[in-house]
Amino acid sequence: MTADLDILVLGSGGREHALCWKLAQSPRIRRLVCAPGNAGIADVAELATLPIEEPEAVTAFVKAHGFHLVIIGPEGPLVSGVSDALRAIGVAVVGPSQAAARLEGSKGFTKDLCTRAHIPTAAYRRFASATEAHHYVAVHPLPVVVKADGLAMGKGVTVADSNEEGLAALALIQGPVVVEQFLEGTEASLFVLCDGNTHQLWTSARDHKRAHDGDTGGNTGGMGAVSPAPNLSAALRDQAMREIIEPTLAAMKAAGTPFAGMLYAGLMLTADGPKLIEYNVRFGDPETQALMLRLDCDLAELLLACGEGRLAETQVKWTADTAISVVMASKGYPEAPRTGTVINGVDSAAGTGATIFHAGTRRDENDQLIATGGRVLAIAARGGDVATARDRAYAAIDRIDWAGGFYRRDIGQ
Ligand code: AMP
Ligand code: GLY
Repeated sequence: MTADLDILVLGSGGREHALCWKLAQSPRIRRLVCAPGNAGIADVAELATLPIEEPEAVTAFVKAHGFHLVIIGPEGPLVSGVSDALRAIGVAVVGPSQAAARLEGSKGFTKDLCTRAHIPTAAYRRFASATEAHHYVAVHPLPVVVKADGLAMGKGVTVADSNEEGLAALALIQGPVVVEQFLEGTEASLFVLCDGNTHQLWTSARDHKRAHDGDTGGNTGGMGAVSPAPNLSAALRDQAMREIIEPTLAAMKAAGTPFAGMLYAGLMLTADGPKLIEYNVRFGDPETQALMLRLDCDLAELLLACGEGRLAETQVKWTADTAISVVMASKGYPEAPRTGTVINGVDSAAGTGATIFHAGTRRDENDQLIATGGRVLAIAARGGDVATARDRAYAAIDRIDWAGGFYRRDIGQ
């Protein structure tokens, strides 16, 4: 096989490190560039500086370098139309159009689509503003779920146990609002790769969104993940595909805005079957860090086929193992992370066999590793069962010497 592919990955998190790590293992890769990347990604890809949410800047860079495929990590560039601009110049992209990215970018859009396509989800009402939602939230049965309609970086959702708390959350929202019924159950995520025509069920994961042990503390982008999701049986997974994913893709196609990219469904497994909580239109973070450890085929081949609309020609393969990722974050995350602290012991941790993905790091002039963000590292490991994978991940974490960081001890429990 010849190395003939030049690939650009957009993003700078642990998700992008995991994607680059797996892509770099492909014999097809000739050149792998990540913009803007981070200190860990620099070990497996070239880094480039680029304003990744600006369509003209990205297309100019892609034309200048002749990339065959662009993989878009975060939602920002998707919502600002980077994938449309790339497709318009004939470049293969993994990431939906701006129109299809509304599945993540507007909760109201997705809820209305669910109504039209009879997709199981929490009952809801949409309001143009917080003021208009005031009375509804004040008298809604409890708990009441209050959401900002647009992208809010994981901070736009409040599950309120009192109407006062619901109103307080509402007061912080600018723009349209969705108010929902509370769904009882356990959560699981499904990952489905789509090329606009066909879709390929990847696998499931379960993430832990609260900052601290025992699901306490603030809501975060995710403090750890396990794949496959231990609570999602094959029967429930098939039901979710049939009742949620497939009707969604059919509705998007019928509307003239087919979905092409990674569709990540957040599900609540209720007594009444799986219900949709939300869609993301991209790979999950830190789910991807666990997924990439289990992926047992060539990621570059799969994503190129996806970008070129040839997904039907491919098959995805997973190891039978369980994989886990545990996030290490700067103290104070998510409210007020204190960055700039020094991290030691990462090489020793990697020596245990675990895989260390970087999310927010840089190297200083003395080559010391410095934390630059809230979520900083994800330690990933796999094993024959959850307990083995967990033990391996935490054995690696124990080697990391970072006074400025913290992590959850109960991921996968
Ligand atoms: P989202 O950003 O929409 O994924 O919401 C963040 C988290 O809020 C979800 O992972 C759930 O834990 C919780 N959540 C959102 N909507 C509901 C709902 N209708 N019922 C119960 N929990 C919810
Ligand atoms: N793990 C949650 C997310 O990627 O949004």
